[in-house]
Amino acid sequence: MLVLGIESSCDETAAAVVADGERVRSSVVASQILTHEKYGGVVPELASREHLRAIEPVVDDACRQAEVTLHQVDAIAVTEGPGLIGSLLVGLVYGKALALSLNKPLVGVNHLEGHIHAVLLENKIDRAAGKSVAEARLPAVTLVVSGGHTSLFYVTCRDGSSARFDYAQLGRTRDDAAGEAFDKVAKLLALGYPGGPVIDKLSRFGDSHAVDFGHIKMRGNPLDFSFSGLKTAVLYRVRGTELAREAEERRAWRRTVDRPSIDDLRGHCSQETINLIASFQHAVVQDLVERTLAAAEEARVDTIFVSGGVACNSLLRQRFAEASRGFQVFFPSPALSTDNAAMIAAAGYYKLLAGERAGISLTAHASFPLGANIHE
Ligand code: KG4
Ligand code: ZN
Repeated sequence: MLVLGIESSCDETAAAVVADGERVRSSVVASQILTHEKYGGVVPELASREHLRAIEPVVDDACRQAEVTLHQVDAIAVTEGPGLIGSLLVGLVYGKALALSLNKPLVGVNHLEGHIHAVLLENKIDRAAGKSVAEARLPAVTLVVSGGHTSLFYVTCRDGSSARFDYAQLGRTRDDAAGEAFDKVAKLLALGYPGGPVIDKLSRFGDSHAVDFGHIKMRGNPLDFSFSGLKTAVLYRVRGTELAREAEERRAWRRTVDRPSIDDLRGHCSQETINLIASFQHAVVQDLVERTLAAAEEARVDTIFVSGGVACNSLLRQRFAEASRGFQVFFPSPALSTDNAAMIAAAGYYKLLAGERAGISLTAHASFPLGANIHE
């Protein structure tokens, strides 16, 4: 079954053609980084307009690269939420119109479910390519960690010819998502957008123990997250100090250069700044790893999945490898970790197999919880 996936929940317009939920025939992602970088974050209205411009060429490109026509596609899977409503609507309406005009089945996919399926998809790709990786088996605890989300899920599968997946939310962020905290700290220090990859690369040159941010304490559910306090702690260490003056100089310099290299950027950062971001990254990663391992222990699973843009973080990958306490930890490749439509097509495939069909009333949801929250 050839599924055309469409994803437009935030600032990436993406389309992909995936065969039988496991062979990626094409995966096209049009990034809007250049549009949003001067604002240091996604501007929703601009994002919707960019999606409108990109959706048709991106879908065309996905079909061309997969060497199929739209008529040869068997079904369409589209992200229905959560995300920016204006952005979601572009992909959703486009997918709906395609399904109607081509008379193909349509299915709506939760973006978070897509991120979870990215891990399963990567595992199938790796195993088909003969890589010696273990099979990613369910049940698993999954950390979905990105610019918009930081949540823990318990994922099970009722196996059979049509695999049905069940999700329960174990915890979630009460304020900022981890990626959002990376982006805001990078904005404060004039390091560029998106902040995660820059902080990741610069932190390799810093001392991650230079600043002790302590543990993030949570009242209530210990599997919830909170990163806004950490972000504010960074702000207090910067405001009114030499680091703030240095950041303003860097901001002025950045306006004169187009996309500086990491070495260039490093040349414009004091060791104190680099130590501060390395310590910040360490605190975020430590918190993500500890809560995820605690969730896996509590849920008595052997397997952990980590997905979403922040899953690209090199320290996060390293810490999970070092501290995995016997759990098998699976990450998608960076291309499948960040927003993409192959994960939407893969998740949609199983829904289609299970007989799910969306009607003309399918609509977008800015807030769209996945699975029941076991603490509410
Ligand atoms: O999954 P994604 O593409 O979009 C959302 O659904 O949000 O994730 C984007 C987020 C951004 O906040 C970005 O800063 C972060 O993922 N990110 C990283 C890294 N690469 C991307 N954060 C930390 N380290 C990275 N290497
Ligand atoms: Zn995402």
